[in-house]
Amino acid sequence: MNAKQRVAKQAATYVQSDMIIGLGTGSTADCFIDELAGRQQQGLAFSVVSSSVVSQNRAKQLGLNLTSIELLNHVDLYVDGADEVTEDLTLLKGQGADLVKEKILAQNSDQFIVMVDQSKLVKRIGEKYPIPIEVIPFAWQIVFSALEKFGAKGQLRTLPGKANPMLSSHGSLILDMEFPEQITSQELNDELDKLPGIIEHGIFHDLTDVLLIGDESTVQIKTR
Ligand code: A5P
Repeated sequence: MNAKQRVAKQAATYVQSDMIIGLGTGSTADCFIDELAGRQQQGLAFSVVSSSVVSQNRAKQLGLNLTSIELLNHVDLYVDGADEVTEDLTLLKGQGADLVKEKILAQNSDQFIVMVDQSKLVKRIGEKYPIPIEVIPFAWQIVFSALEKFGAKGQLRTLPGKANPMLSSHGSLILDMEFPEQITSQELNDELDKLPGIIEHGIFHDLTDVLLIGDESTVQIKTR
């Protein structure tokens, strides 16, 4: 069993019958979806709601009981991976193009469980990846200029190997931006939250309830 499978197995121990469970996106979230299929086969009944088309398809193929986010006003448990995690459990997410649903599910779940391996632990958000910022298409250049005033550098995310911009599942554009190191993730979070034209950004501040850090043999558990 690798680290991703190990944390996914641990995360599945938080699942109880009749829960509505939010499914994250990415390779670690895929392992969790596989674990859920196993729990269902053992007789546990629950519903799932997906943060992306990719996770939705995987859940559907495995026969999980899918519901739609439009029908919900509450989620019991949201389980997802992350691209970076700091000591205070702030996350960077959004290397996939679905951070809006991911953040809505994280914010509106009773419990948000994050699964990572050691490679995701960082001292500073933005250490390994630029910050993904999802913007309303017509305003992307205005938002880009506003971010440059904070000293940010970056570009519009394009389709792999092409010049065409990548669209999120709901048709918005994504800016991948690097900010000066002296701006803290909390300051950045607060500034990005205020800027008109930004739909959502990849800093998940003060949302993680449980962090599971896996390696080849153990899972370390950190709580907020
Ligand atoms: C998706 O948009 C991201 O936030 C993912 O949660 C993140 O990229 C983690 O993916 P892996 O589990 O594949 O590392």
